[in-house]
Amino acid sequence: MSSQFAWVTHQVPVTKWLKTELATRAPHLSFAFARPGLTTFKIDGPADDTVVVPSSFARAWGLSLGRANKVAEVLALIAPLVRNSSAPLRLHVFERDIDVPVDEQDATVRGTRAREIEGDLRAMAPSEGILFEVDAKAAIGDRVIDVIVPHASEPNETWLVGTHRHSFAHGPWPGGVQHVALPEESPSRAWCKIEEALRWGDLTPTPGQDAIEIGSSPGGATYALLCRGLNVYGVDPGEMHPRCVNFRGPHHNRFFHLHMPAAEVPKSKLPPKYQWLLSDVNLAPMVALRYIERFVALAHGGLKGAVLTLKLNDDGVFAALPRILARINKLGPKTVRVTQLPSHRSEVVAILTF
Ligand SMILES: C[S@@+](CC[C@H](N)C(=O)[O-])C[C@H]1O[C@@H](n2cnc3c(N)ncnc32)[C@H](O)[C@@H]1O
Repeated sequence: MSSQFAWVTHQVPVTKWLKTELATRAPHLSFAFARPGLTTFKIDGPADDTVVVPSSFARAWGLSLGRANKVAEVLALIAPLVRNSSAPLRLHVFERDIDVPVDEQDATVRGTRAREIEGDLRAMAPSEGILFEVDAKAAIGDRVIDVIVPHASEPNETWLVGTHRHSFAHGPWPGGVQHVALPEESPSRAWCKIEEALRWGDLTPTPGQDAIEIGSSPGGATYALLCRGLNVYGVDPGEMHPRCVNFRGPHHNRFFHLHMPAAEVPKSKLPPKYQWLLSDVNLAPMVALRYIERFVALAHGGLKGAVLTLKLNDDGVFAALPRILARINKLGPKTVRVTQLPSHRSEVVAILTF
């Protein structure tokens, strides 16, 4: 049997950390080739579309079917998958990252190449007997076809065609999740980080629930949760944007500022139970974890989820990542997923469910 390869998409600057992490966590994967934002690994042993690429930097991953330069070649690569099944396939066409932070990219260009290729694929597929689901969002168990294409600025680069069986570990959208554009009225770009995390993690906070955010100033993430109908308790010695302070939602939900460092928040200022915990402090993760541990304990078992941003500023913090994740696992979650989102800079997010 010929060799099989796994693909993984990720931010460009972390390629070295991704390879280092996988050398320990997945020694059956050996580096094969890399393009900016896309790395492939030869798989030692049998593999199928449930292959896992267990890295904190992996945003989407799966089994490689091969490379293509045009739509007809993509359809030829996926044709063998439909031979024994008439079920429509989920189609994810997306651009790999480029080496420019997403909020500095030309938003009128990003995504245009993927949209054009997806349109052509959908138009040609029926003539080859291939059916695609209309919606992009994957459901557990779906077989997803991934077509990873370059950004419009690299027109001569080839495409990679892959597949993955959608599971809880994957983000359900093309590429795990796509960048979510910052609304003009958001107090900060952290709005994008929380919205991308909720979408990648397929988390749906319900209006009326309570959230604590450690490190909430000036208020982008708080504003996102307020707009989703939650009450938000923001812990930060810094000032909050008036849009958060004065917010009154249709669900009568509002913002409460605990205007002090996390270590000084008295129990009496918190709701007796809260369902969501966010942390986005500009502190080393080992320090931030002290506060996170306290706020998990103060939730009295009511937590449904936590979205913890972990600052990875240098090789030292990267080296400490296994110890950081061990401490996160001790918080008692049912699941922990770690990824790096399009809007992240030197950071990753740990998404916990309880
Ligand atoms: C990246 S900013 C947070 C951005 C914010 N999440 C938003 O949505 O706009 C980091 C914040 O952590 C806060 N911070 C740093 N140390 C803290 C501490 N010990 N307790 C609470 N907040 C802290 C800073 O004041 C700063 O506002």
